[in-house]
Formats: sequence, C-alpha cells, structure tokens
Amino acid sequence: MTGPAVFYSLGATTGNRAFGTDMTLVNEPDSIMREEIVRRDLGNVLHPIVPHKQLERRQLVAVAAENSTIVDADGAEYLDAMAGLWCVNIGYGRAELAAVAAEQMQALAYYPHTAMNVPAASLAEKINGLLGGDHHVYFVNSGSEANEAGFKIARQYMKQEHLGEFRYKTIGRYWAYHGTTLGTLAAGGMGERKSKFEPLGGNDFVHTAPPYCYRCPFGLSYPSCGLACAKNLETTILGEGPETVAEVIVEPIMSGVGVAVPPDEYLPEVAGICRKYGLLLHVDEVINGFGRTGKMFGHQHWEVTPDIVSIAKGISSAYLPIAATVVKNAVFQSFLGEPSENRQVAQVNTYGGHPAAAAVALRNIEILLEEKLTERSAENGHYLLDGLRSLMRHPVVGDVRGKGLLAGVELVQSRDTKEPLEPRQMEVVIDFCRDNGVIVGRSGGGRRYSNTITLCPPLVITRGEIDRIIDTLDRAVAAMPSAAG
Ligand SMILES: Cc1ncc(COP(=O)(O)O)c(C=O)c1O
Repeated sequence: MTGPAVFYSLGATTGNRAFGTDMTLVNEPDSIMREEIVRRDLGNVLHPIVPHKQLERRQLVAVAAENSTIVDADGAEYLDAMAGLWCVNIGYGRAELAAVAAEQMQALAYYPHTAMNVPAASLAEKINGLLGGDHHVYFVNSGSEANEAGFKIARQYMKQEHLGEFRYKTIGRYWAYHGTTLGTLAAGGMGERKSKFEPLGGNDFVHTAPPYCYRCPFGLSYPSCGLACAKNLETTILGEGPETVAEVIVEPIMSGVGVAVPPDEYLPEVAGICRKYGLLLHVDEVINGFGRTGKMFGHQHWEVTPDIVSIAKGISSAYLPIAATVVKNAVFQSFLGEPSENRQVAQVNTYGGHPAAAAVALRNIEILLEEKLTERSAENGHYLLDGLRSLMRHPVVGDVRGKGLLAGVELVQSRDTKEPLEPRQMEVVIDFCRDNGVIVGRSGGGRRYSNTITLCPPLVITRGEIDRIIDTLDRAVAAMPSAAG
C-alpha cells in the first residue's frame, strides 16, 4: 500500500492569494508543508525532460488551479499561458468533470474496449460528427499512442489494399514533433530529441522540408517561393519510391518548433500530392485540435480531408488521459471483415475507450461547444496576435505568428542575421515572466532553435489576462541584458 494521498481543500475566497491562504492538507498532518513535498519529490521522482539540478533550485508544486490560474503550495498564483502542456483547453477547476468521472466510475469503472461501453460509443459519435460524419474512432491514451496507432493502421491498410506492394514508410517533416515513443520520435524531425535514443530502427521514417517560413529551408520568401517545401515533399516521395510509402504525417500548424503557420496553399498542396501517389494523409491534431487554432480542428482552416486524424490533449482538456486515432470510412472499410478474413485492427491496448475518460471527454467537448470556446479562441486569438505584434518594436523580436490562441514570438540576436537568441538569454526572459506570475513556453528546437516563446493559454482566458501576458513579455524582453540593438 502506498501512503495516503495528499489532497488540498481550497477555500473559495477572493483576492491575490485566493487559494493559497486557507489551503489545508487533508489526510496528512498539517505540518506537512511545501518543503516536505519537495523533499519527497526530489528523493523519489524521476521527472520528464527537466534537468534535476534545476528542480533542486526551483520548483513549482502545483496544488490547485482555476480557469487560467495555477496555484503553488506556497500560495503564489501563476497565469498559465501554456494551458499545462498545451492541453487544458476549457480551463482548470471544472468540478463538473469530477462529478462526471465519479458517476461513471460508480456505474462502470472499466471494461476492455473489445466490448462496447456507453460513453465511448457516444464520444466516438460526437468526434465523428465534428469531423464531418464519415469516420470511425480508435481510442488510445496519449498523443504519441494516437500517432503510433495511425502509423500501424496506415501500414496494415496498405498491406490489405495493395497486395503485392510493400508500402510501409511514413514521411514526416524536419522540426516536427509527433510524440515520445520510438516510432513517433523517428517520425518527428527534432534531432536533439532523438539523439539519446538513436539509432531508431530502419528507413521506415523519412523527412521532408517544413513550411517554416521565417527560416525557409530554401532561403526563399512566400509567395515567390512557389511553395518549395511542398514541392520538396514530392521530390522525397519520388526519391523514396511512391510504391514504398504508406502515408504522410503533418501537424497543420507546427507547434513544437515555435508555432509555424504554413502558407494557405500548403496543406491543400500536400493533400493533392498524397492523392496523386495514393498515400494516406495523416494529420496530427494533438495540439491543433478542439478549438485551439480558432477552428474545431487545425486542418479545417484549409478544407482538406485527411484519411487519418490523431487527437489527444484538448479531447478531454487533460482532465483524464484519453486520445484517439480517427480514420475515414474509406480506410475503415479495409478493416471490416469476418474472422476468417483476418482484416481487423491488429493492435490492442488495455485502457483504450476507458469509460470514465470517455465520459469526461464527452462532457469536455460539450462544454467547448456550449461556451463557444472555438469562436472565442478565434476572436481572442486576433486580440493576442495584435498585442504581440506591438512587441516588434523591440529589435530582438524577429517574428510574431499564430492562429487562434496558439502563438509564437521568435527572439533573435539581430533581425538581419536571424541568429537565434542564446539559451541563457531565453532563460532570462522565461524566468522574468515566471517571477512576474506568468508561465510561458518555449520552442523545442534543441540548443539551436529553442528561441521562440510559445503561448497556448486555456481558451477561457480573458482579455485582461491576455493584456497581462503581453505586458509581462514586453517588460521581460526590455529587461533582457545585451539585447540586440
Ligand atoms: C503535435 C504533437 N503530437 C503528439 C504529441 C504527443 O502527445 P503525448 O505527449 O500525449 O504523447 C505531442 C505532445 O506534445 C504533440 O505536440
């Protein structure tokens, strides 16, 4: 048995330290305070991606949250401009979702999804409807798993539909991030994220140029570039041999590299190239989805119809872990058969379609729709972007870009050379924001391209809070030592 869980009961009070002041520990003696939790953590937890020595110096012990605000065990409040890890779309503190989970757990906590259950069937119907009504939904537990399942579905589909051919490759793009498993890391294009684990299998994941216009891989400018990045995809397909390629995976707006918004013609062009060579178009909506970019799904800005869609994060606003791989019915048909035909999906996972997670996700989506948070994301996204553009008066702000409530502010030594800001300078900016109560993110481009401040707040963020993010960033950039002149 593990020890009793540590819960905090929050006083619904007002004021600057709304949650912190009358916070008490339940099931633990009152004497266990922040230092004790830090001690337990540092002595026992292996944290993802954060340097542990850094955690020894500075920690955030999250104990409560409401709307867009996180509360530390010391009572300090932070405006979370990253919605956790780009995921708490409907905002924190929706007690209603706890009630939905409790009710479902009392009725049916779990049964494998080889059978059927009520919330998962209803959730699948809801998701299918949001995507146009011509799909089937395969449930998994994380964005990585959703992409990984998509790779496997693409391969199995090709084996079943293209007898005698060997179509197995996934084409991804440099600087993309598609997850943390070996397969999704291989599909991604972030060298430093992979380097500790390489080699990553064979030649089944290949890469093409990204539509990262601020740093165009061809040194060109839109529109005179003639969409060289999309043309490069065709070159890659031809170079690999189309008869070896199963699918192309794209995140419509590339979040991880610092919110690279492609030119309007890019995604339709990619879809056309996939069609031309008989490849499946696999769209990663793990971050873009569920209102984030001002449409329900990112690809809906460009009216393409993907064959496979990976969804996670905003599907439940992270209230419980759940994700899914959604396939067009044209793909699903390949998996429809009698036992003797052996066409069924050749994979399984224990928690897929978990009733409590599905019930919570369904209610989360209903809230998203009832409160028109997608529309709010579009409107407040314009407001955010307008405000961020005012930061261009600082010479270190090289580029501001985004769509909906997903934005990037790329910081450079000089606008002429576009030399990225040094990691230590980025840390000064990020620490300044945090010291002033605002949590911002940073692109994941390794030592070289981690120079974009990323913003992905809960979709319930208010205009006052957006002003605060912009004002704090403004002061952070102004206060940065040795800023370029
Ligand atoms: C675009 C994209 N795809 C996939 C993933 C992987 O999702 P998860 O961390 O839930 O496995 C992420 C994670 O941030 C992501 O940003």
